[in-house]
Amino acid sequence: MIQAVIFDLDGVLVTTDSCHYKAWKRMADEEGIPFDEKDNLRLRGVSRMESLNIILEKADRQYTESEKHDMAERKNAYYVQMIGDLDQEALLPGALSTIYALKEDGVKIAVGSSSKNAPAILKQLQMEDLFDAVADGNQIKNSKPAPDVFLLAAELLGVKPEHCLVVEDADAGVEAALAAGMRVLAMGSASGNQKAHLRSGTLNDIDLTSYIKNG
Ligand code: BG6
Ligand code: MG
Repeated sequence: MIQAVIFDLDGVLVTTDSCHYKAWKRMADEEGIPFDEKDNLRLRGVSRMESLNIILEKADRQYTESEKHDMAERKNAYYVQMIGDLDQEALLPGALSTIYALKEDGVKIAVGSSSKNAPAILKQLQMEDLFDAVADGNQIKNSKPAPDVFLLAAELLGVKPEHCLVVEDADAGVEAALAAGMRVLAMGSASGNQKAHLRSGTLNDIDLTSYIKNG
C-alpha cells in the first residue's frame, strides 16, 4: 500500500536539469574539457562534487582540490544565475496536476533531491508549502545512488520505506530508491530503466492516483 510519493526535483518537477547541463557545459568549455549531453547522463542525480569528478575524467591534466572547489563554485554561480528567473512555466508536464491529485487522495508528498539549491527553487516557484517534507543535498552525506535522501524523506514524513513510491528521471535515482526498499517510477531520461516498477515519458502519461488505489 503506497502512502507517500517522493519526487525528485530536477527533471521530474522542473526543467532545471537542463540548467545544470548548460552550467557544467559552460565551465567545461572554459577549461577545454570535452563534455556533451551523453556525458551529462552520468551526472543526473549525483552531487555537485561527484559531477565535477566525472567531468574531470576527460581532462588532460590533474586539478588540485582548490581548483576543483573553484570550478564547482563557478558552475554553481552560472546555475544560480540561470535559475534566477525561473517561474511556474518551468514546471514539467503533469507535475502540478499529479501533486494536487495525490494530495486530494490523502497521499503524502515529499521532495527527495541531491541538490543544495532545491529549497531556493521551491521557494522561487512558490511551492515550498505544497510538500509534507523536503529532503535535499544540504541534509545528506551520500548522494544518489545511495538511498540516504529518500530514507530521510520517508523519516520526515513518518512513512515506512516500503510504503513510499519514488519518481525519478535519473538512473542513479532509480538505484537509490531501490536501495531504500521503495517502489519507483522512472520517467524522462530514465524511462527506459528496466529495474523500475513503472515507466513513463512524463507525469502526464501515467495516472499515479489510479496506480496507487489499485496497487
Ligand atoms: C541533482 C541534479 O538534482 O542535483 C544533478 O540531477 C546535480 O545534476 C545535483 O549535480 C546537485 O545539485 P546542486 O544544485 O547541489 O549543485
Ligand atoms: Mg533528476
